[in-house]
Amino acid sequence: MSDTFFFPSKMLIHGEWVDALNGVKQDVFSPGDQSLVGAIAYGGEEETERAIQSASQAFTTWKKVLPAERARLLRKFYELMIARKDELAKIMTAESGKPMAESRAEIDYAASFLELYAEEIRRIYGETIPTINHDRRFIVMRQPIGVCAAITPWNFPSSMVTRKVGAALAAGCTIVLKPDHRTPFSALALGALALEAGIPAGVFNIVLGPAPEIGQYMCAHHTVRKVTFTGSTEVGRVLMAQCAPTIKRLSLELGGNAPFIICEDANPHDAAQQLVTGKMRNAGQSCVSPNRVMIHKKHYEWILTEITSLMQKLQVGPGTDEKNNVGPLIDRKGVEKVDALVQDALKKGARCLLGGKPHAAGQNFYSPTVIADISPEMEIAHKEIFGPVIAASIFESDDEIIARANNSEYGLASYVFTNDYKRLFRYAEELEYGMVGFNAGVTSTSVTPFGGIKQSGLGREGSHFGLEEYLNVKSVCVAGLA
Ligand code: SIN
Repeated sequence: MSDTFFFPSKMLIHGEWVDALNGVKQDVFSPGDQSLVGAIAYGGEEETERAIQSASQAFTTWKKVLPAERARLLRKFYELMIARKDELAKIMTAESGKPMAESRAEIDYAASFLELYAEEIRRIYGETIPTINHDRRFIVMRQPIGVCAAITPWNFPSSMVTRKVGAALAAGCTIVLKPDHRTPFSALALGALALEAGIPAGVFNIVLGPAPEIGQYMCAHHTVRKVTFTGSTEVGRVLMAQCAPTIKRLSLELGGNAPFIICEDANPHDAAQQLVTGKMRNAGQSCVSPNRVMIHKKHYEWILTEITSLMQKLQVGPGTDEKNNVGPLIDRKGVEKVDALVQDALKKGARCLLGGKPHAAGQNFYSPTVIADISPEMEIAHKEIFGPVIAASIFESDDEIIARANNSEYGLASYVFTNDYKRLFRYAEELEYGMVGFNAGVTSTSVTPFGGIKQSGLGREGSHFGLEEYLNVKSVCVAGLA
């Protein structure tokens, strides 16, 4: 891929594309075939400081831009994303390995956050509160927090950017983004489109460089009023501690260990199909991926056979080839981690129905895998798999399975297949998860709140709940009116 206007490889600071001050660059390789995607400017604290200062300066004017004008700019940003969907999808596939169809779907998903927040800007309402004293009136204002810092992951390189940046800009905040070093080009292309849309210099900045150094700098900085992060629980914990001295607002979208429960009364055909669809999204590299598949004994063997057959039909290979629907994992470490979980389960008695090993398509590919008879002593029962592996266990009663599903330090996504409305409400109320999907293997949209409880994180993204995360509530008391 060439270094064109639309394929920038530098940092975006105050509306300018800039190199690292010391000239350092870092190569980015495609996970599918290890080819060079490009080289990015690789900065650090000094560049991050400049970006924060730029965002701080821009905030003084951006917060005063009329809502209708902010809405117009975000809408334009959205339209440019849709108009350039194929180019954006190609960039994403090159750097993340995702099949092209998935990259296109992600661009639609990513753009939908900009569309939504362009609309929500007009609904950032205040309130009046009935007075308790004749000489007083009470008003509540919602105001932008200020300068925000965002750290985004490689697995959804566009949508995790827009669901943070869209909400921040809509609220009237400015932002400094640090995308993952493995998938920077998707984020940089969004920076280029934001400029083209007319979003003023400094409102949206992008810095590149070592994550621990830049993350710590952002978290410790007094000017940054909020940090928003999508990634592992382990890193989320570190960022939270680093934000403590300056008491920052935080949104953390962290790890998951999603239960996928197929009840006695479920439609087994739909459940099997949705399980494979949900699991194989991004080759299982999603924090909402079905992780612990729990199947009622009535359907257990039938569903295992069906999903094995569905998984067997999938085409594994580089995402650039349109016929492939399972791409590589992000790197070799990812493959090793997945394989270690699978081998541990097999050693402890799991039944291998399909795959169970790396795939011949290349060093970062893992075979679509189905393993059954998972038991609690296996590591795979507790850890996020992040690979194309369905790990299933059997259950007999709702009481047993709700307790089992809730027995996790994570609480992000959960899935239940049932056609019984009483059972549906019981699971909806009793599952300790931020999201419960019924009869669907993928439930993410921009219009619903996305986020977890327990060690899966803090705050919500998407929907009007996501906008609240970038607003301060100010209470105004006016006295002396009697
Ligand atoms: C993630 O896996 O981090 C996000 C997936 C989604 O938005 O559906």
